[in-house]
Amino acid sequence: MDNSNVRPESMERITTEALANAFIDEQVKALREQIGGKKVLLALSGGVDSSVVAALLIRAVGKQLVCVHVNHGLLRKGEPEQVVSVFRDQMNANLVYVDAVDRFLDKLAGVAEPELKRKIIGAEFIRVFEEEARKQDGIEFLAQGTIYPDIIESDGVKAHHNVGGLPEDMQFELVEPVKLLFKDEVRVVGKALGLPDNMVYRQPFPGPGLGVRCLGAITRDRLEAVRESDAILREEFAKNGLEGKVWQYFTAVPDFRSVGVKDGKRTFAYPVIIRAVNTKDAMTATVEDVPFALLQHITARITSEVPNVNRVLYDLTPKPSATIEWE
Ligand code: XMP
Repeated sequence: MDNSNVRPESMERITTEALANAFIDEQVKALREQIGGKKVLLALSGGVDSSVVAALLIRAVGKQLVCVHVNHGLLRKGEPEQVVSVFRDQMNANLVYVDAVDRFLDKLAGVAEPELKRKIIGAEFIRVFEEEARKQDGIEFLAQGTIYPDIIESDGVKAHHNVGGLPEDMQFELVEPVKLLFKDEVRVVGKALGLPDNMVYRQPFPGPGLGVRCLGAITRDRLEAVRESDAILREEFAKNGLEGKVWQYFTAVPDFRSVGVKDGKRTFAYPVIIRAVNTKDAMTATVEDVPFALLQHITARITSEVPNVNRVLYDLTPKPSATIEWE
């Protein structure tokens, strides 16, 4: 396997299924040579990059790949279920599903500072992953969904994958089959490997997940309000042709309540903030001009279907002065 971190100038951009299939054949051969009969471990979040790496390795070495999916309770609605159904049920992968929801939420209880929340989520992720890795015998390789922008823009370790922080006695040889690919190429390869469209064309999702959208100290009621309102927003954007057009869209729930009225009774409940932005590189962003009637329809659905919510707001602020996320 070529261990170079530099993309050769001669490397053709993977834009078609035929080119993707050629890449897949070449990688499968290289992966088999590198791995032989040994075992490989992969933290499978369900994001595009780790999913494509999983699918490539399943094709190359089948059950020698051990995928660990950590459900930290901060994933979007339906995501953990989809990881299990695609990889275990359809691709017959060796998948360890770890329900770590209580563990993460207990660690995060009462923590309001955004960077500290991120640190706790990252550190706990490594700990859970490490525990699962120690339960496996004979792992020699660690697969990672590093892609070319990660190498160009950082020191090559994907911060949100968080496995770079494993302890000294657990240093495995790295397997990074898509490290010379750009995001659009990873998607073409994912499609050719048979991954579902909603996995391959997924909008960006931060590593700390809904944890940074449940603003301030995370509580279970507000976390569910974020998850349910986000699911409604995504469903409505898909139905109304905005999925794939808008770069990133999500909801956030702040940690204060306001007065409202429902069925003739006074309520004191949380607001949901909708954010929908477009950008090229996430350094600056503009706000999507979502049709007002659609915003009203989404508002009606969220206030009637999501418990503990009585108000919906649309964030009109570009980046700068705001960031894309609220935390
Ligand atoms: P901001 O909020 O900085 O976001 O304008 C820019 C892009 O980065 C994503 N983001 C993160 N991704 N871990 C990640 O993997 C994080 O901690 C994180 N914070 C922000 C954000 O969703 C947007 O796409």
